[in-house]
Amino acid sequence: MKFHFFSAALALACFCGAANAQNTKLTLDLSKPGASVSPMLYGLMTEEINYAYDGGLYGELIRNRIFKNNPTKPDAWSLINEGDAKAAIALVGANPQNVPNAERGHAINDALTTCLKLTVENAGTRAGIANSGFWGIPVKPATTYSASFYIKGAGQAPPPARGGGNRPPQANATPIPVIENNTAGPVTVSLESNDGKTVYASGIINVEKTPYWKKYALKLTTKAGITPTKDAHFVISTNRTGLYYFNLVSLFPPTYGNRPNGSRADLMQMLVDMKPAFLRFPGGNYLEGPYLADRFPWKTTLGPLEQRPGHPGSWGYRATDGLGLYEFLGWCEDAHMEPLLGVYAGYSLNGDHVDAGPLLVPYIDEALEEIEYIIGDAKTTKWGAQRAKDGHPAPFKLHYIEVGNEDWFDKSGSYDGRFNQFRAAINKKYPQLKVISTIATKVYPTQKVTSGRPVDMEDEHYYQNSWQMQEDAFKYDNYDRTKGPKIFVGEWATREGSPTTNLISALGDAAFMTGMERNSDIVLMSCFAPLFVNVNPRNEATGEPSGMQWASDLIGYDALTSYGSPSYYVQSMFNNNVGDKIVPVGVSNLPMLHIDTAALNKNLPPQQRRGRQQKPDRPSLYYVATKDSKTGTIYLKVVNVADHAENVTLDLKGAGAIAATGTLIELKGEKPESTNSITDPKHIVPVTTNLTGLGKSFTHSFSPYSVSIIKIKAAAGK
Ligand code: AHR
Repeated sequence: MKFHFFSAALALACFCGAANAQNTKLTLDLSKPGASVSPMLYGLMTEEINYAYDGGLYGELIRNRIFKNNPTKPDAWSLINEGDAKAAIALVGANPQNVPNAERGHAINDALTTCLKLTVENAGTRAGIANSGFWGIPVKPATTYSASFYIKGAGQAPPPARGGGNRPPQANATPIPVIENNTAGPVTVSLESNDGKTVYASGIINVEKTPYWKKYALKLTTKAGITPTKDAHFVISTNRTGLYYFNLVSLFPPTYGNRPNGSRADLMQMLVDMKPAFLRFPGGNYLEGPYLADRFPWKTTLGPLEQRPGHPGSWGYRATDGLGLYEFLGWCEDAHMEPLLGVYAGYSLNGDHVDAGPLLVPYIDEALEEIEYIIGDAKTTKWGAQRAKDGHPAPFKLHYIEVGNEDWFDKSGSYDGRFNQFRAAINKKYPQLKVISTIATKVYPTQKVTSGRPVDMEDEHYYQNSWQMQEDAFKYDNYDRTKGPKIFVGEWATREGSPTTNLISALGDAAFMTGMERNSDIVLMSCFAPLFVNVNPRNEATGEPSGMQWASDLIGYDALTSYGSPSYYVQSMFNNNVGDKIVPVGVSNLPMLHIDTAALNKNLPPQQRRGRQQKPDRPSLYYVATKDSKTGTIYLKVVNVADHAENVTLDLKGAGAIAATGTLIELKGEKPESTNSITDPKHIVPVTTNLTGLGKSFTHSFSPYSVSIIKIKAAAGK
């Protein structure tokens, strides 16, 4: 018997093989003290992809709230024109060269430079503007929504100035002539069904007679007993003629923990339930941007929403930056995790890079300021003071900085210099911080960082099919313990199933996680990616693109509901059930599977095929054990990827007294493609039951296509 290895003298089966006739045995060796499990092992990775924030975690329900999504038309907005109303809407300021002089000067400030003009020549029954949200506005019973918007009537406003240009002039200033202003008076704000027949909630604001921008806010409360729906829109309407200009139109449902400018509660709750140790942000590609100028602009993601212009993003749509640096940090607090900050390192997705040396200094300064915002003293540092002003005087927790993202794409060879320049500057100011390289020695041996002292940690990324992930379950067993480096698996996922991963993905994930957990003395951190997907498909009739840019994600949602993929539940199971010490596990008669890899790849979409040549034979069982040295609880995780049950003898070598009853947490499904979805959100979920008949040696039958965690109560200290 060998520890961590499997004996290969076994019958080869395919996925549809016969039940294991051999006597498979796992021996948990509790007599030897194992290595420590990294307390940071399981975290989250996030970026703005698949409408993860806007139309996802960020609570805002209005899409295109500052009208900058598309310079040619007001995306997500439409005209309400009822009875014999004669009205029109138009963007103002988006395209100044096409806008008559009279229309200039409607900017609120440098960030809010585009607004929506509603011209009402004849009000008919009513005229107004409607927003369709992110594939609908979710309306729920007995719920209070917070609406707000800027509105003004016609008139020449003063030119924009930083921090709020369109403000009333000083008392002695020449009054600005009002061209036409019927805007003053009541305006109705409502949540309505798309056909306008049902009004779920409504309120009235009284617009003052002034040509200057003014913000109005009101609450909209729905009645108890209404059926939840996302077939709704948000309407601002009038029954008076005139010119109406709108900007920063916002609608928030109740947020997680009632944070202002906060998060969608169901999604945040799912993350909290995972008990993650850290959050890797802001990307991913979202950190880098398509071009250097599009890198994550953390400074303009701070402060009042009025000062956030948004930026182009990296995944084909504009980011509002409503979920900005401060909100990321609040998210960390909500989920009791710490940030792992990715800093822009002078390389963008189009391949441009900034060489190490003087040209890189401004980017390093930017990163140092960003770190100062997170941990700088509120009284003695500029950015610490800004954080205090934003609402958080105490520094946040921060231990890890990652320099760039996937810099192996930079074929110029500049990363070594860039990394070292960043690391030197970061560690000079913050010697306590660990600095992570994005190039992993094992994966890119010719591109790795070679200069300077050894790297604290290296980031490895894996996007593979289930079979490849199973193959990689043993890879870390062979990593060098003495020379390092330590590993951060900063992005990984089994990519089968769309929009969210399916059962065979979850089994691949779980197999891979047994390998990371068993080797968590060197794999210190890991996080699945991408985290979120807005599951709305492309609308073929209107051409509206889908919410998804990257298939096979962890958590899916539409405007109204959300669900976890089988992979999500595997993540939760692993994170919530892990001890602090690794227990060595020996195996005999490990059952094997055989697969026709060519046939497998043929049936997979191209992105799931990438990766190296796969071996046709591999185990059907994957396992890891840890124990809690305080309570004595042993956590045995076993993944069965076969289509049949596997009977396994479990021996607890060197164990003290074992409680006869333990707990089984089991996730299983009927076939590899089985999955969860918006319409069937709980098809595959873990089920917890009592397990009886436990002792120093007992048998257990592991279900087909299953992930099992057996919790065994043992005397502490053994
Ligand atoms: O997770 C999706 C993308 O995959 C990330 O943005 C990037 O880092 C990786 O290539």
